[in-house]
Amino acid sequence: MEELKNRIRKEGKVIDEEILKVDHFLNHQIDPILMCKIGEQFARIFKETEVTKVITLESSGIAPALMTGFIMKLPVIFARKKKPVTANEDMLSTEVYSFTKKVTNTISLEKSLLSPEDRVLVIDDFLANGAASLGLTKLIKTAGAKVAGIGIVIEKSFQEGRRRLEEAGYSVCSLARIASLKENHVSFLDE
Ligand code: G4P
Repeated sequence: MEELKNRIRKEGKVIDEEILKVDHFLNHQIDPILMCKIGEQFARIFKETEVTKVITLESSGIAPALMTGFIMKLPVIFARKKKPVTANEDMLSTEVYSFTKKVTNTISLEKSLLSPEDRVLVIDDFLANGAASLGLTKLIKTAGAKVAGIGIVIEKSFQEGRRRLEEAGYSVCSLARIASLKENHVSFLDE
């Protein structure tokens, strides 16, 4: 998605060879117009996959997931990283280890939100090592539902995420694929 790549070129800050900061439109301040276009793009990509629900992980996945659900007219679920006060025994949960942040989060969602008839589209802001997306697919499968696909806003293609997700049998569509962050420069895979 050219507009997204241009925003990354203009506003992204390369922190080191592994981390890109995009706090002006995705991870801290959010650009709703760009998010809407991202939602439209995911809706186009996944229109044939008979999606019934969109799922993401709090917090930065919520904006692109919400806009995707808005355009596709589908409910959007966000898995939580902290147990809500309303939690009961009817929660599905799994552990997700973040290589980037070196923390393990137990992510969870209420069982009643998914049923075996659901075909669920996973949306996330970044794909690094794939742990968050794999955790979400695990929750979907535990609920007996199907994974319709995985949509990622920014993929760091030099990390393991895509390979791990594809090996697990999922189709991954990323709107911007970063080949490298070397020498303080963002290189995209298709340039
Ligand atoms: P993985 O799920 O693909 O394995 O990713 P990993 O655990 O390594 O990264 C976990 C967190 O770090 C995620 O945020 C992810 O969005 C973020 N992250 C990974 N690489 C980058 C990067 O290059 N730039 C930025 N800005 N973020 C990155 P999170 O913990 O879920 O936080 P949030 O959603 O609450 O913001």
